[in-house]
Amino acid sequence: MSGLVYPILLSFLSLLLCSCASPWHTISTGTSLQVDHEKVLLISPDTTFSCGFYPSGNSTNAFYFSIWFTHATDKTVVWTADPRFPVNGQRSMISLNHDGNLVLTDVNGSTAWESNTSWGKHTTVSLLDTGNLVINASADKIIWQSFDSPTNTLLPTQHLTRENRLASHSDYHRLYFDNDNVLRLLYNGPEITSIYWPSPDYNALQNGRTRFNSSKIAVLDQEGNFLSSDGFRMIASDLGLGIKRRITIDYDGNFRMYSLNASNGNWAITGEAVQQMCYVHGLCGRNGICEYSPRRVSCTCPPGYKMIDPENWNKGCTPTFRIDCGQPYEEFTFIKVPHGDFYGFDLTSNTSISLEECTKICLESCLCISFTYKGGEGLCYTKNLLYNGQVFPYFPGDNYFKVPKNVSSASSASKHTGITACSPERSTVMLVSAYSKNSDNITWAYFYTFAAILGAVELLFIITGWYVLFKMHNMPKSVEEGYKMITSQFRRFTYRELVEATGKFKEELGKGGNGVVYRGILGDKKVVAVKKLTDVRKGEEEFWAEVTLIGRINHMNLVRMYGFCSEGQHRLLVYEFVENESLNRYLFDDRDTERLLSWSQRFKIALGTARGLAYLHHECLEWIVHCDVKPENILLTREFEAKIADFGLSKLSNRDSSSLNFTHMRGTMGYMAPEWVLNLPIDAKVDVYSYGVVLLEIVTGSRLSSEVTVGKEDIDSLQISSGETEGREEMGLMQFVQVVKQMLTSGADLDIVDARLKGHFNHEQATVMTKIAISCLDERSKRPTMDQIAKDLMVYDDEDYHPAYF
Ligand SMILES: *[C@@H]1O[C@H](CO)[C@@H](O)[C@H](O)[C@H]1NC(C)=O
Ligand SMILES: *[C@@H]1O[C@H](CO)[C@@H](O)[C@H](O)[C@H]1NC(C)=O
Ligand SMILES: *[C@@H]1O[C@H](CO)[C@@H](O)[C@H](O)[C@H]1NC(C)=O
Ligand SMILES: *[C@@H]1O[C@H](CO)[C@@H](O)[C@H](O)[C@H]1NC(C)=O
Ligand SMILES: *[C@@H]1O[C@H](CO)[C@@H](O)[C@H](O)[C@H]1NC(C)=O
Ligand SMILES: *[C@@H]1O[C@H](CO)[C@@H](O)[C@H](O)[C@H]1NC(C)=O
Ligand SMILES: *[C@@H]1O[C@H](CO)[C@@H](O)[C@H](O)[C@H]1NC(C)=O
Ligand SMILES: *[C@@H]1O[C@H](CO)[C@@H](O)[C@H](O)[C@H]1NC(C)=O
Repeated sequence: MSGLVYPILLSFLSLLLCSCASPWHTISTGTSLQVDHEKVLLISPDTTFSCGFYPSGNSTNAFYFSIWFTHATDKTVVWTADPRFPVNGQRSMISLNHDGNLVLTDVNGSTAWESNTSWGKHTTVSLLDTGNLVINASADKIIWQSFDSPTNTLLPTQHLTRENRLASHSDYHRLYFDNDNVLRLLYNGPEITSIYWPSPDYNALQNGRTRFNSSKIAVLDQEGNFLSSDGFRMIASDLGLGIKRRITIDYDGNFRMYSLNASNGNWAITGEAVQQMCYVHGLCGRNGICEYSPRRVSCTCPPGYKMIDPENWNKGCTPTFRIDCGQPYEEFTFIKVPHGDFYGFDLTSNTSISLEECTKICLESCLCISFTYKGGEGLCYTKNLLYNGQVFPYFPGDNYFKVPKNVSSASSASKHTGITACSPERSTVMLVSAYSKNSDNITWAYFYTFAAILGAVELLFIITGWYVLFKMHNMPKSVEEGYKMITSQFRRFTYRELVEATGKFKEELGKGGNGVVYRGILGDKKVVAVKKLTDVRKGEEEFWAEVTLIGRINHMNLVRMYGFCSEGQHRLLVYEFVENESLNRYLFDDRDTERLLSWSQRFKIALGTARGLAYLHHECLEWIVHCDVKPENILLTREFEAKIADFGLSKLSNRDSSSLNFTHMRGTMGYMAPEWVLNLPIDAKVDVYSYGVVLLEIVTGSRLSSEVTVGKEDIDSLQISSGETEGREEMGLMQFVQVVKQMLTSGADLDIVDARLKGHFNHEQATVMTKIAISCLDERSKRPTMDQIAKDLMVYDDEDYHPAYF
């Protein structure tokens, strides 16, 4: 008798305790919690995580059984029992029954979710400090854990394995290990399925992954390293212990690492997988075009098309006309979308044909609604289905839309220019929300993607302050929070604040082409470098816009910008302070043997610099050409990690930066590619050239170039005086290059390595660095990209974990 009464009494007691006293760390069988009693069932011993009923976003009467961060401002959910179906907000219940099954029952008594465990009455359920909800059969036997079935979030120490996957809230985007052992992101929408990360245009090796490790495990450690068995790694920008982190697949299909700021409960983004958001498939829906503008990502509809659902870009665009197979060809024409492409779904593909022939093929096929043509190789791809559309300034082709002639004349030219890539003029007219063109239904709505939100909100922040942000509907709360953190890391300073911080500009750290740098200490004791810009001709608004762009760039090999000041004539930039001096002080200073860089330090610096530049060239939202790569601009941290300074500044001092082709000269003689002088268009390849010179200097430990900084005026006069002085310098370097080339081809000993190292260097690394340097100094079209260089160097990096490729 008493044997029966006792458990009932116990469960009654625990129910009582559970619903009125503070929640427990562990519960035993017979405990239950009703949603309308108390929301929290369990709390982890250190209180970081809570588990219980969490209200569904858009309904007051729907709840999920979830785990969330107790101290985050938005109570960020990290796990949900069944994210598809919430339960009723009245009298739904979670209970650990006497069989040891954890059951979620809806108000009508139906089982919404269950753990399917049945180990009897000694079963316990606890919430651990890691955020793992575990069901124990005994003190040393776990029979079920929430870590095995993640929803959209991975917590430190939780394993992503072959058995599970992460999925975005919509379930359209999934992070999983593929059959070939590679960690991938898949878009699995209602209409199409396609892989978008890592880039499907390259194989695993080219993407820096390996297919040969079949363990299929990815885990975020306590310090902020996310490592995957295929070689992918994401390192938190605030690497270190003691910070609460999570990795989440966001609504926009990207997966990001977040760190919790313990003092205000907000999240900061400290890592991001997909850097170019247009690569996320499904972003702009069917027929939609994803486009980078200088500061953001936006979706547009092609000419003659309109948005299907003005609230949701995922639904895409639909034509305002019909293409019937009986219609005569003459009724159609083509509208060009420069640098546009739609990935995949080709109807036909032909090589080596002319644009006219390609146009004809599309015109004569009634299935063809558009084609992409790449001039160089004469590639022609006709399309019947249009997905994954994007405009990418470097895409070496154009897309053409088939539209009836009367439509094309009706859809005005202005719409069309809206689609061209990267027009800087438009960037200043940033939008507060979507707006529609008056007469027709073609809508240029902007803020669907996270990046788009960043762009628009950044300006909002500047123009109107914070509050409007929260009025933008449809924006997920976590995105708001994440965004808030980004801007709170980057801020505007008053001039007075910086005068105080620098002690009236007392301690000068260095002088550069753009101005003087001073040491400063901010109110929160953070040491910073404050740069007073001299030659800024930009208007206030444009200056802000440029600076906020630079401020958002966050990479471990780039000097971080904390903020800026723009008041009257004053233009200042506030940067992170990098402990050690610039690379030139270590490479070229003969007297100081203390400062001699070891070989492994040199290799690390070369690799870090390549990574930083590759990031600027290939991964930022706006492709940034540094234009002044030299040892003076490569700063070293205490651990001799390279950090590139002064990127993005070419745009600030530049009066008419109307395109990627700079008309203004900025650079340092000896590091400047020949095309500067030859007046050719300037692109990222100028940085590759300069990097080549720096790389040779790292290997040899001596200056191979003179150190004169020049402006456009100097170059002009050089050209007039037939470039005599400049020519001599160039000869010196070029002769050296010839000698080295001979050494490399003849297989002779590479005796160019810094003699001060007394032979202590890695021969393989020195050879590959020299080979890369030589290829960088080649003529423009033959130079490799920074991305390629970084990947090539990485293979020889012996400090890093890297897979054995062959
Ligand atoms: C929330 O609202 C959206 C659209 O308004 C709807 O599709 C979704 O099912 C709703 N979710 C819940 C849990 O009611
Ligand atoms: C109970 O309610 C849920 C949703 O509220 C519904 O899906 C389910 O079919 C209902 N079950 C029964 C047995 O009525
Ligand atoms: C429990 O079993 C049911 C029915 O087989 C299944 O649908 C459900 O996913 C299982 N629950 C868990 C947590 O595995
Ligand atoms: C459950 O099992 C784990 C693993 O053995 C153990 O660390 C934990 O203390 C157990 N919890 C309880 C409440 O017994
Ligand atoms: C495969 O990956 C795992 C997890 O990252 C690692 O521990 C293991 O050493 C790797 N195996 C090989 C052969 O590289
Ligand atoms: C955390 O927030 C506080 C207050 O907003 C801020 O001062 C601090 O810099 C933040 N910490 C980090 C690491 O961003
Ligand atoms: C294009 O390729 C198809 C086969 O894929 C071929 O039949 C056709 O003749 C080609 N067209 C031209 C213009 O070369
Ligand atoms: C274009 O012409 C077609 C018939 O030739 C007609 O159905 C359609 O409405 C016209 N569209 C416009 C925008 O005038």
